[in-house]
Amino acid sequence: MTDARKIIIDTDPGQDDAVAILLALASPELQVLGVTAVAGNVPLGLSQRNARVVVELSGHPVPVFAGCDAPLRRRLVTAEHVHGKTGLDGIALPEPTLPLQAVHAVDFLIETLRREPPGTVTLCPLGPLTNIAAAFARAPDILPRVAEIVLMGGAYFEVGNITPAAEFNIYVDPEAAEIVFKSGVPLVVVPLDATHKALTSRGWVEEMRALATPVGRAVAGWTDFFERFDTAKYGSEGAPLHDPCVIAYLLRPDLFRGRHINVEIETVSELTLGMTVADWWRVTDRPANALFLGDIDRAGFFALLSDRLARL
Ligand code: RIB
Ligand code: CA
Repeated sequence: MTDARKIIIDTDPGQDDAVAILLALASPELQVLGVTAVAGNVPLGLSQRNARVVVELSGHPVPVFAGCDAPLRRRLVTAEHVHGKTGLDGIALPEPTLPLQAVHAVDFLIETLRREPPGTVTLCPLGPLTNIAAAFARAPDILPRVAEIVLMGGAYFEVGNITPAAEFNIYVDPEAAEIVFKSGVPLVVVPLDATHKALTSRGWVEEMRALATPVGRAVAGWTDFFERFDTAKYGSEGAPLHDPCVIAYLLRPDLFRGRHINVEIETVSELTLGMTVADWWRVTDRPANALFLGDIDRAGFFALLSDRLARL
């Protein structure tokens, strides 16, 4: 597609990140300029390896870069309890042959945004915001060149999943999140309020397995594994496909509902560190800085996912 939307996926795979990357690479409406790995669900050594595994599995090779191995100012907190030791537990996949790019992810972000025409590149962070914030801090000239940031992170009505107050991606690097949320770049936030409604069903997972393709088997294995944590914690059936919601929003924004409101990040209180303080009811005069999504058309989302993953 000549007028495909240019995106950069920043990610910490993670089974849900993996499905998001596959969805993006299966969709001709999108041109993935690169995949930048960040420390999050698992340490950087694994997240960059996992990103290469998934890109290779897609059959659509795009460059993969390694970025920051720790938050801007804090020790790394990981989530092996959710994603398993490898970060992609649920199916054993071969070591990637796709090479890791020598350029650091933050340099790639800066160089790409300086090279591409202003307002043509969308950033899609699916993990802690360390790489994005580091690029913004080092090269503020790129801020007005970013078309939009569509990120998975935060929560309001759904409250936290790593602490009572905070969602994991924001909690891991709240200082980075503050830089991004205060950057003035057009921002779409896909929080747990939306992603907790994007729950897989047994039927959908079996539909993936029935594709009888390497992608179908991987997605079924990952979601079977990923589901067990949320089922044990919330008693819900199904795995919440957090990160694929970001890509689905790019493809079909009509599947989502939200409000343009003010969202700020707690970076001081240890009790509520990483909380996204979303002024959903507009009770303050703080300026709106984000489209904060609250609802998703679950059936439409999974129909899109099925259609696209079947193409790989
Ligand atoms: O809280 C969910 C988010 O944290 C998802 O992006 C998941 O992959 C983890 O990074
Ligand atoms: Ca993620």
